[in-house]
Amino acid sequence: MSASPTHIPVLAAPCLELLQPAPGGRFIDCTVNGAGLSSAILGRTAPNGHLLAIDTDGVALGRARERLAIFGERVIYAQANFRSLESVARETRFTEVDGVVMDLGLSSIQLDDRERGFAFSQEGPLDMRYDQTRGQRAADFVATADAAEIERTLRAFGEEPRARRIAEAIVAQRRHRPIATTTQLADVVASVTGRRGRIHPATRTFQALRIAVNDELNALREALPQAVRLLRRGARLAVISFHSLEDRMVKAFFASLSGRPVESRLPVPPPTPPAEIRIITRHPVMAPPEERMANPRSRSARLRVAERV
Ligand SMILES: C[S@@+](CC[C@H](N)C(=O)[O-])C[C@H]1O[C@@H](n2cnc3c(N)ncnc32)[C@H](O)[C@@H]1O
Repeated sequence: MSASPTHIPVLAAPCLELLQPAPGGRFIDCTVNGAGLSSAILGRTAPNGHLLAIDTDGVALGRARERLAIFGERVIYAQANFRSLESVARETRFTEVDGVVMDLGLSSIQLDDRERGFAFSQEGPLDMRYDQTRGQRAADFVATADAAEIERTLRAFGEEPRARRIAEAIVAQRRHRPIATTTQLADVVASVTGRRGRIHPATRTFQALRIAVNDELNALREALPQAVRLLRRGARLAVISFHSLEDRMVKAFFASLSGRPVESRLPVPPPTPPAEIRIITRHPVMAPPEERMANPRSRSARLRVAERV
C-alpha cells in the first residue's frame, strides 16, 4: 500500500535505496513534514512495519497525520524537536530500530506559507520558527540583538560577506520603525547590497536567521549520536542536508565513529576507538541532473548514510 505522491522529497529515491526498508521494519522519520519519505517507508514495510513520525512543527505534523491516516496504527506521531530524539523514542518504544531518517531544514510547504515568515518574496510576519508555540521569532531577534550579534549570525549561518553592513542597516532601521515583516527585512538588506545577480540579496540573511531562530545546528549536533544509539546492528541512519554547515557536521560525526585513527601530535598516539558505524556513502549522494533542473532546492542537497556495526 502506498499513499498518493503529493510531495516528493529531494533525494527520496537514493535515500530509500540505502535505507532498505523491508516488511515488518521499524523506522523513525525525525522530520516527517509532507510525509513523502514516511509514506514510502510505510509502503515498503507493509503489512506490519511501524514508523515513529516526528516533526517539531505542529502544523506539518497535522498534515502528515492526514496523509498517513491510511496506514492506521502502524504510525505513531510526536510533535517534538529531534534534539530530544532518544526520550521520544523511549516513550514510544522505538528503540533498536531498523533505520532513522533526517531530512533537514525547511520544506517547500513551509516556505510557501506566507504566514510562517520564511520567504523574503512574500509579505508575512517575520516569524521563521518551525515550532510556533515556543522560542524567539526572527522579528524578536532583529529587534533585540546588537549589531555585533546580528553580524556574527549572518556570517556564521549565512556565510554572508556583507554581514556587517546589513547588521548596521538593521539596527539603523529599527530605530525608526520595528522590522516586523519579511518584506521589510528583505528591503533593508536590498538597500545595502543592491539587487544584482540571480540570487536575491536577502537569501543568505534569511537562511542565517532561520538557522539561528531554530538553533538548527545545535539540534543536529545533539540528535546525531542519539540516532546512532537507537539503531540495531546493521540498521542505517540517513541524513539529507541542504547547506555546507550541516553537511560538514554530518561528515565529521560519521568519521568520528567510523574507527579511523584519532588525529594526534603526541609521540604515542591514543588508541583508535572501535568503529561504531560503517560509512555507506564515501562521498555524499547528490541529486541527479533531472532533479536539479526541476527543483532548484535539490542542487544543494547532500545525502549521507551510515550503518551501525
Ligand atoms: C525538508 S522537510 C522534510 C520533508 C519530508 N522528508 C517529506 O517527505 O516531506 C524538514 C522538516 O523538518 C522539520 N524540522 C526541522 N528541524 C527540526 C527539529 N530540530 N526537530 C524536528 N523537526 C524538525 C521541519 O519542521 C520540516 O517539517
